[in-house]
Amino acid sequence: MIPFVDLKKQYEIYGDELDSRIRQVCSSAAFILGPAVEQFEKNFASYLGVSDAVGVASGTDALRLSCEALGLGPGDEVLVPANTFIATAIGVHQAGAVPVPVDNDPDSYLMDLSAARKHLTGRTRALIPVHLYGRCLDMEAVGKFAAAHGLQVIEDACQAHGARLNGKRAGSFAPLGCFSFYPGKNLGAFGDGGLVATDDPSLAEKLRLLRNYGSTRKYIHELPGGNSRLDSVQAAVLDFKLQHLDEWNSKRFAAACLYSELLQGIGQVRPPVFDRDNPHSHVFHLFVIRCEKRDELLAFLGEKGIQCGIHYPVPLHLQKAFAHLGLGPGSYPVAEEAAGKILSLPMFPEITAEQVRAVAGTIKEFYG
Ligand SMILES: Cc1ncc(COP(=O)(O)O)c(C=O)c1O
Repeated sequence: MIPFVDLKKQYEIYGDELDSRIRQVCSSAAFILGPAVEQFEKNFASYLGVSDAVGVASGTDALRLSCEALGLGPGDEVLVPANTFIATAIGVHQAGAVPVPVDNDPDSYLMDLSAARKHLTGRTRALIPVHLYGRCLDMEAVGKFAAAHGLQVIEDACQAHGARLNGKRAGSFAPLGCFSFYPGKNLGAFGDGGLVATDDPSLAEKLRLLRNYGSTRKYIHELPGGNSRLDSVQAAVLDFKLQHLDEWNSKRFAAACLYSELLQGIGQVRPPVFDRDNPHSHVFHLFVIRCEKRDELLAFLGEKGIQCGIHYPVPLHLQKAFAHLGLGPGSYPVAEEAAGKILSLPMFPEITAEQVRAVAGTIKEFYG
């Protein structure tokens, strides 16, 4: 049996230290905000090289609060990739704005900026690039595109903790960078959690109000914000795990290199394209191949005890949740074609070379 993600492994290795961090929060009884959250925010901001990090309750909240902090709301359109986890669009929708999907590049699966152009209208106010699967989108190109069209940028780095491009980390390029700490992420909590990174202290201040009933002083409320705080227990877990993030990402990268070598030469399989000489430009939250007879291969791997996933089987515009956008099949041909062919193979830092070989061997066996 080879799991898709093995969350128990990290706890087997680091359980004592993690338990001790959790006990510290419990014995201090500072469960809401307080020192554990402050320490993690400080350390994560310094890891990213930004001035501020604001812990929130989830990645979805990070996206929604970022939209709100930038003043995006009813009547505003926000460009998002058609191929992403639905939360990218949900964050926009919850802020009252309209998510407008953009087709993806056929090789990287990331938002295709040349396709974005045709969705610009007089109401387009912002763009949310997603570093999907752990791969950094070209943020210089994003910056130029946004500047040319007067758009604000929010980075969705929910799958790209620690990814680096030209010396800068994902989530630190745009004025606001959003993270999720869902347990299966490269940096995962023991429950839900999220964060917004920024180099703009006034945006940080706004986010701190929005996440905490519009208040920084007890019972004094400057705006009707909600309750979207990062739990102290989760912050303590994350602060410990942060020390290991780069090492875990290197292990993911090594597994990805091995997968790629072993899958070369199978005509029906296209491994992801990435720069081997530039580790951490892709942190392989997911290792996604494109393959023929995807559903049959998925079933075959399942029968052999190998768990895989599909990220994502239905593009945004074809989800019932966004049917009101009125975008039917054929609107985003690249994303729609990819949805039927992509397959995510088991990937986690502790995956062994033997396990990677077994997965690749089973794929070879399937194609004969
Ligand atoms: C690209 C992307 N955006 C947003 C989210 C939402 O994060 P969360 O599940 O923490 O709300 C996720 C994670 O699930 C994601 O992968």
